[in-house]
Amino acid sequence: MPVIDSVSVEKRKFSPKKNFVKKSHIKSFKEYKKLYNESINNPEKFWSREAENLDWFKKWNKVYSWKKTKLETKWFDGGKINISYNCLDRHLKTRGNKTALIWESDKGRSKQFTYKQLHKVVCRFANVLKKHGMKKGDRIVFYMPMIPELAIGILACTRIGVIHSVVFGGFSSESLKDRIQDSRAKIVITSNASIRKGQAIPMKKNIDKVLSECKSLKKVIVVQRDKSLKTSMKKNRDVWLHEEINYSDINDFCKPAEMNSEDPAFILYTSGTTGKPKGVVHSTAGYLMYVYLTFKYVFDYREEDVYWCTADIGWITGHSYIVYGPLANGATSLMFEGVPTYPNPDRAWKIVEKYKVSVFYTAPTAIRALARFGDEWVNKCDLSNLRLLGSVGEPINPEAWLWYHKVVGKNKCPIVDTWWQTETGGIMITPLPGAMDLKPGSACFPFFGIKANILRENGKPTKKGEGGYIVIEQPWPSMLRTVYRNPKRFRKTYFSKFKGGIYFAGDGAKRDKDGYFWIMGRIDDVVNVSGHRFGTSEIESALVSFKGVAESAVVPFPHKIKGKALYAFVTLKKGLNESDELVAKLRTHVSKVIGPIAKPDKIQFTDALPKTRSGKIMRRILKAIAEGLDDVGNTTTLANPEIVEILKKERV
Ligand code: WT7
Repeated sequence: MPVIDSVSVEKRKFSPKKNFVKKSHIKSFKEYKKLYNESINNPEKFWSREAENLDWFKKWNKVYSWKKTKLETKWFDGGKINISYNCLDRHLKTRGNKTALIWESDKGRSKQFTYKQLHKVVCRFANVLKKHGMKKGDRIVFYMPMIPELAIGILACTRIGVIHSVVFGGFSSESLKDRIQDSRAKIVITSNASIRKGQAIPMKKNIDKVLSECKSLKKVIVVQRDKSLKTSMKKNRDVWLHEEINYSDINDFCKPAEMNSEDPAFILYTSGTTGKPKGVVHSTAGYLMYVYLTFKYVFDYREEDVYWCTADIGWITGHSYIVYGPLANGATSLMFEGVPTYPNPDRAWKIVEKYKVSVFYTAPTAIRALARFGDEWVNKCDLSNLRLLGSVGEPINPEAWLWYHKVVGKNKCPIVDTWWQTETGGIMITPLPGAMDLKPGSACFPFFGIKANILRENGKPTKKGEGGYIVIEQPWPSMLRTVYRNPKRFRKTYFSKFKGGIYFAGDGAKRDKDGYFWIMGRIDDVVNVSGHRFGTSEIESALVSFKGVAESAVVPFPHKIKGKALYAFVTLKKGLNESDELVAKLRTHVSKVIGPIAKPDKIQFTDALPKTRSGKIMRRILKAIAEGLDDVGNTTTLANPEIVEILKKERV
């Protein structure tokens, strides 16, 4: 078992308030336990009852199946369903004039769509895609800022059975190219501009070069986010969305495709321990079912809620909990284009006040960044509508949790610390806010249907208080189905560490004496920087692709705001000199290859890396050095132990 940070288990407990419990879906631990046991012992009964709450064109034949040797799971097989229909059409009768989507622009402009209006634009968008020849199973890549057209566009895809793949707008054009090529997308949908802190960034112009290198690409649909920005359009390839969608031959209605339950709905690329990011494939019915249900119970959803998740739709959090989960429940979901600290550190709280947000879901890194500005920024805003807070993306340290609870939640809002991953599709370990006492820093208990366990290296369960690997022992509806065009990698990454169809998540965890789960972060070579996920090998490859860099090793180190940050050790070939200038150049280079969010915080040049006699880099030692430790552990297996003292002395 690799060394994992020992979490000093928090003793404090926070019980849900009486008036919160009164209106909760699940009101006690006993009630949770009863349903949980049913979901594990009799999944057919549990899931078929829940699935009745969705709208089906045709009911399923079999709730689920699991072929362990083939690693093939099927949910609601034989059923026919459509995601966009469930997010839109089925609400038209009862909630047609209810606000579905609120959009707040960077500059503070607001746009809102009722369910009726959203339905209409999604239909028109889908008809545009059809007109351009898009058919079931085709792929479309989105590279967009946080504007309504992104949410509308992915709903349009699911309406006609086109598989979407959203690439986070902060990734570089090179990263975008890799994903277009791997998914063999026929259409890219992008925006002429992305607005950030009042500045327009020419998004399309920045990717024009790589678009011409993508063979599969037939069309580029461009949103005009900034009219004043001159945008060159390639003849016969590039079209404006506002023109396409307004043509008179585009109908206000588009018939939803009757999808098979197991048809893929979307691909989302995510980083792993080795190689390029992999395309995680999610299904239709199981995915929809699971995000519908987790949204309802975890956020204890009420009809009158105004719900705001601050994630970007470029990540799984945005897919599941800005778009699909909330809309499947008929909720009002807010999406925000800007950053929570612009123009002032109270921007997020002003938005909460302006729209009377009642449920707020964000990441620990944002909480820490906002807390740093001081309580007065929060206190001058009216947050009285808030009733529930959420956290996601990385472990939340107890101090940040307590600040969030006291200053933002005024000691009355429960906090749901939700553990999950791109691969899991939806929330896996979480409090149910009316049903259990909270402990700051603990994600509490597995959601319905999730058979979570913590194992030792040898596959035996750990004892209470003992750290180990977190695993899931049964498939669940929104489990990734495969890695796109790479089933081998699917098997190897998630199902090879333990035998017998046990899903390996890559995180360390332990359970305390009350059975609460404490997630301790990644135990593989994946790092979570501000809740963004990177494989250290990706960043190493980027560094080595810089002319004159011989070798590099990247490790995480603790960072006050980001949670973890990246520390790169770099050796140079002869002819290139170590300098501050070179540090800056290398950072810019990584930014170009992967994206600005992947820039290492620290770069240390060295003549050599600590290696074993067989030539393996000893990352454990580098990590200890990056963490500023004096004792870096056992160095006897090193071929060059003398390098350790030098590295320690020259730490940056
Ligand atoms: C990794 C997955 C799931 C949406 C955002 C990230 C870490 C996520 C928590 C949490 C501790 C967490 C894990 C996980 N993580 N939520 N509540 N407590 N760690 O999705 O990019 O696929 O990253 O994020 O390390 O493996 P992702």
